[in-house]
Amino acid sequence: MDDALVIGGTRFIGRHLVDELLEHGYDVTIFNRGSHENPFADDDRVRRIEGDRTNDSALEAAAIEAEPDAVFDCVAYYPKDVQAATRIFENCEAYVFVSSGAAYGREEIPKREDATPLADCSPEQAVDDSGATYGPRKAEGDRAVFAAAERGVRSMAVRPCIVYGPHDYTERLDFWIDRVNRFDRVVVPGDGTNVWHRAYVEDVASALRIVAERGEAGEAYNVGDRRLATLEETLGLIADQLDTTVEVVTAGPRELAAGDIEPADYVLYREYPHVLATGKLAGLGWESTPIDEAMARSVGDHLESDRDGSEHEPDRESEERVLGILDTL
Ligand SMILES: NC(=O)c1ccc[n+]([C@@H]2O[C@H](COP(=O)([O-])OP(=O)(O)OC[C@H]3O[C@@H](n4cnc5c(N)ncnc54)[C@H](OP(=O)(O)O)[C@@H]3O)[C@@H](O)[C@H]2O)c1
Repeated sequence: MDDALVIGGTRFIGRHLVDELLEHGYDVTIFNRGSHENPFADDDRVRRIEGDRTNDSALEAAAIEAEPDAVFDCVAYYPKDVQAATRIFENCEAYVFVSSGAAYGREEIPKREDATPLADCSPEQAVDDSGATYGPRKAEGDRAVFAAAERGVRSMAVRPCIVYGPHDYTERLDFWIDRVNRFDRVVVPGDGTNVWHRAYVEDVASALRIVAERGEAGEAYNVGDRRLATLEETLGLIADQLDTTVEVVTAGPRELAAGDIEPADYVLYREYPHVLATGKLAGLGWESTPIDEAMARSVGDHLESDRDGSEHEPDRESEERVLGILDTL
């Protein structure tokens, strides 16, 4: 495989994927609308085709123009997107759909590709644009991948858990990096042992390439850090990279109520652990970056950026009320 088409490619996962593909000798074309700045604008190794992926004719024209061997679909949020792409690119050597760990329909530890059921998706959910139906829509996209493989298309799905790293526009990890950077005492909901599996973005990019090259048609592959960190451990990793220390102050629902905060208000906090099994992907020869190294790159990028996670709840003032109550106990 020599020619890769990345649908998306200018923002976060797709951007790292373009770097990964270039490093591995691919000729890369990106396909997007042009509403985000193109970081590869001055790189003559990366061709760009402008278009909206929800317009099938535009995608068909891109297929003819780029003649890709491998297609990486970073912008498929609706089952119909995957259905159209698996038809348009049916003769390619590989079609890889960026699905999500949210596609699973049952809470269990860990969630396994071939044992944990996927979420159902009703016809109404399939066209709904709310966050509540994101997982069901991704699950239905996976089923479209499996159906295409039945027809002979070499299509695969990759399911990342929460992705973090340089250029992460969601600012979820930035919230916690900013807290550790600015304050000696950081409030953590629960008892600090909460786990929400994360995937370092460069490892998601390498997973996508490896699945295109070595994956089996009709299969799905989870991707997430091989070594997981609890929320408290995550703060320790961040503090190490900032060359500082952090006092973690754990607070349960009753303590948090003093600041009108609920545990679920916090990003990267989830009551029931979300853990993806990654053995199937590792079986293809994929490896993940050691978490301290991944954190070093993430913290370094945070410090150079203007991201501070302040769009996320709760604000520090509310937390100060919680700390005030805890100090009187
Ligand atoms: N971040 C996570 O934690 C996480 C976890 C699991 C799965 N995922 C999945 O990862 C994928 C997103 O990755 P990303 O944002 O990092 O991808 P990306 O490829 O880096 O960025 C999104 C790209 O899509 C383009 N785009 C958006 N709408 C488009 C459209 N209608 N037609 C053509 N291009 C369009 C954007 O450019 P223009 O706006 O210029 O068109 C941009 O280049 C999604 O499928 C998401 O469900 C993410």
